[in-house]
Amino acid sequence: MKELSIIGGGFVGMNVAVLGAKYGLEVTVIDINPKIVGQINKGTPHIKERYILENWDKIKNKISATTDYSAIKNADYIVIAVQTLKNNDLDFTPLISVVNELTKYLQPYTLISSEVTIFPTGTEKLIVNPIKEKTGLQPDKELLVVHVPERLNPDDMVHNIETIPRILGGIGPNSTHQGFEFYAQTLKLHVTTVDDIRIAEAAKLLENAFRLINISFINELKQGFDKLGIDIRKVISAAATKPFGYMPFYPSPYAGGSCIPKDSLLLLKEINSQMLKYAIEINEKQPEYYAQKIIQIIRSQNAKKILFYGYGFKPNSKYAINSPILKIIHTLKNMSNYEIKKYDPQIPEYNDFVSEMEAIDWADLIFTWGNKPSTQKQTYSIEKL
Ligand SMILES: NC(=O)c1ccc[n+]([C@@H]2O[C@H](COP(=O)([O-])OP(=O)(O)OC[C@H]3O[C@@H](n4cnc5c(N)ncnc54)[C@H](O)[C@@H]3O)[C@@H](O)[C@H]2O)c1
Repeated sequence: MKELSIIGGGFVGMNVAVLGAKYGLEVTVIDINPKIVGQINKGTPHIKERYILENWDKIKNKISATTDYSAIKNADYIVIAVQTLKNNDLDFTPLISVVNELTKYLQPYTLISSEVTIFPTGTEKLIVNPIKEKTGLQPDKELLVVHVPERLNPDDMVHNIETIPRILGGIGPNSTHQGFEFYAQTLKLHVTTVDDIRIAEAAKLLENAFRLINISFINELKQGFDKLGIDIRKVISAAATKPFGYMPFYPSPYAGGSCIPKDSLLLLKEINSQMLKYAIEINEKQPEYYAQKIIQIIRSQNAKKILFYGYGFKPNSKYAINSPILKIIHTLKNMSNYEIKKYDPQIPEYNDFVSEMEAIDWADLIFTWGNKPSTQKQTYSIEKL
């Protein structure tokens, strides 16, 4: 049986682990976090994504985890899936450290696929060159490397890792060929190959920068339409009746999560785009705009104890990374003396209350993000502000 080592057992790594196991591979997840390793080895998935949960019981015996990099000695394939984001900024130290460990155990002809979102030329600079220097392996001969940007969408109820088409670029024709065999034939994914690895790197960044620019444009328009008393959602619905040349984007208190703001920074690392810089600036100011609106409502209701119900990075998400609501709370706490607390039934680890009832009983006024709690108390939906 062929072996797949996945480095980084987070959101992406665990989706790939399940996919690999489902298509007959023996999977080893390598992660520096012993808690994650322990959980996987106990047979419990720590990422509660639909695709993982639906398949877990059938494949969990084919997945094991370790903190020990020597496990890659037996691997036929290695997928790198570590993060490049820390405290709202780019951080390549996990990737650099992974590559350093790889050089100690990597065997010739093992296929390395990086699914780490990276700036154009990043795979060559941060993965290929250091491995070549330390091991002497020749790129695209004994050292086979591809970049296959990950396009997963957390909480997605429609798409999953099996249904989302992939782009694949290799450091040369051998790598591209081996990479295509792995993704298209072994993992049965829909794969488009590109003839320059930088195209795969840049395409992923284009996808997310495109989203940020459009969301920021809508957010800027919203501020203007708010002044005119025009509901931007109705404007968007009207424009969306055009069957070509238009795509709807919606206002947001912050385009967050682990990818959109960070991938825009990755693109700016290599490309000087004034438009993207401005889109980032607008996005960073959004939480303050919403905080101002929220303060007006609090004053009008003469409330003192304010509850934020739901604080995922998008409405109803179970992931709080770069959450607009946490940013709004932070801004409100700097701007006012109101008592502000939060509760999300899906994110128990960061809640300020042990139960929903306790949270609702405490509050004078509730702002919701996604699903509403059942209560007679006054609630305001942040999506509609
Ligand atoms: N999360 C998403 O929705 C998503 C979607 C598309 C692309 N991506 C990209 O995929 C990559 C991985 O993102 P993620 O969300 O899975 O990250 P994550 O934070 O969920 O997981 C990263 C994992 O890597 C582990 N790790 C860190 N340093 C390590 C090291 N030196 N050795 C071994 N393990 C180490 C961490 O402990 C963690 O478990 C990023 O480049 C991200 O931009 C993420």
